[in-house]
Amino acid sequence: DKSAFIFDLDGVIVDTAKYHYLAWKKLANGLGFEFTKEQNELFKGVSRKRCLEILLDIGNVDATQDQFDTWMVKKNEDYLSYIKDMDESEILPDVVQALDFLKDRQVPMAVGSASKNARPILEKVKLLSYFDAIVDGTDVTKAKPDPEVFLIASDRMGARPENCIVFEDAAAGIEAANVAGMTSIGMGNPENLPEADYNFRDFSEISEEFLKEITV
Ligand code: G6P
Ligand code: MG
Repeated sequence: DKSAFIFDLDGVIVDTAKYHYLAWKKLANGLGFEFTKEQNELFKGVSRKRCLEILLDIGNVDATQDQFDTWMVKKNEDYLSYIKDMDESEILPDVVQALDFLKDRQVPMAVGSASKNARPILEKVKLLSYFDAIVDGTDVTKAKPDPEVFLIASDRMGARPENCIVFEDAAAGIEAANVAGMTSIGMGNPENLPEADYNFRDFSEISEEFLKEITV
């Protein structure tokens, strides 16, 4: 049995978390309330629909189904406009080095993301070819912290969950990896991810020795 790696996309591979934040903030401000970076932590790894529900709770806004649907579309249009010209320069530090290292060692790799925009983003930053499987918001019925997205990824790679190593920047994603019985690696501020098996700020803190050690 061999190890396999699963990467969350937003906030792990690419720096899109800030664009999600800006789009939600714009919607909140338009509806007359503030939306802070701290509140945005709760949105990481969370589906678009669930994010809007939480946002409306924060703003104490009651929405009709029509309004809800309109705001979902609006948030995504704004988000897409922010990432329109995205390119390789938005890949987070030393991600490509880690992917190259693992690819050379022929370790299976997958993306496990809640985003419905995962594929176009991977195309824009030219990373699609690294991955044996891409599981995204169009594949899952249950959002993180449900482990579904990671279990589908391990299944598609033919790897056992306990041999999978998950990189995540979201508390919901760390929980999903833990529930799946996988090794969880928290990326970003460790204070936000106390449940992770390991914590790193970004891939520049992850050595090749570490990647070798956790690989079986
Ligand atoms: C990622 C992000 C979340 C986002 C979700 C859905 O998990 O961390 O903040 O809400 O994807 O993204 P989407 O592109 O489908 O709106
Ligand atoms: Mg993320």
